[in-house]
Amino acid sequence: MKKILFIVGSLRKESFNRQLAQEAEKYLAGNADVAYLDYTDVPFINQDIEYPAPAAVAQLRETVSQTDGIWIFTPEYNFSYPGHLKNLLDWLSRPVVAYDFATPTVINGKKVALSGAGGQMATGKCREKLVELLTFIKADVMTEPQTGVILNTEAWTEGCMILTDEQRAALKAQAEAFVKFLQ
Ligand SMILES: Cc1cc2nc3c(=O)[nH]c(=O)nc-3n(C[C@H](O)[C@H](O)[C@H](O)COP(=O)(O)O)c2cc1C
Repeated sequence: MKKILFIVGSLRKESFNRQLAQEAEKYLAGNADVAYLDYTDVPFINQDIEYPAPAAVAQLRETVSQTDGIWIFTPEYNFSYPGHLKNLLDWLSRPVVAYDFATPTVINGKKVALSGAGGQMATGKCREKLVELLTFIKADVMTEPQTGVILNTEAWTEGCMILTDEQRAALKAQAEAFVKFLQ
């Protein structure tokens, strides 16, 4: 069974993007093993502490190297990705051994799917920029399909995201496409 690592780009406890990930998890059941990345202890990247890698970064790289694919569920912050998500990808983009630019990084060739729940752009601007970033760091992005959810008023007032049938179908189709993409 393929292993998929879910990265939720929100640190908020009741995150809508975490709720979206939990919904996607249902559509992968029986076809892939899902794990959620806990990256709360990954420090801000700083070349003074880059080598040897801090324990949380070494663990992060180990987790990523052991997975077949990564599925990112993220909010959009100011038409882009959240800073902590960028920080994570910055760490993954660096060589494991100092100055060894010949050996592939752990993100190199890693298959990635993208989804997000947010405002009127349905996180489209964020995902567009993530494709650019992930391509630059040599990940293998599944550019289509992606799932973008525009949060409705109830989500904000109730704190709970209720997806439409159409949005559920889009997520299910993306889950199926990603499992194929991982073959
Ligand atoms: C710093 C900041 C910038 C934001 N900028 C955007 C934005 O550009 N587009 C958008 O749709 N929502 C924006 N938002 C709103 C969040 O994306 C929205 O609250 C999202 O649903 C939060 O997702 P979560 O529930 O998973 O944390 C911004 C929120 C913050 C904190």
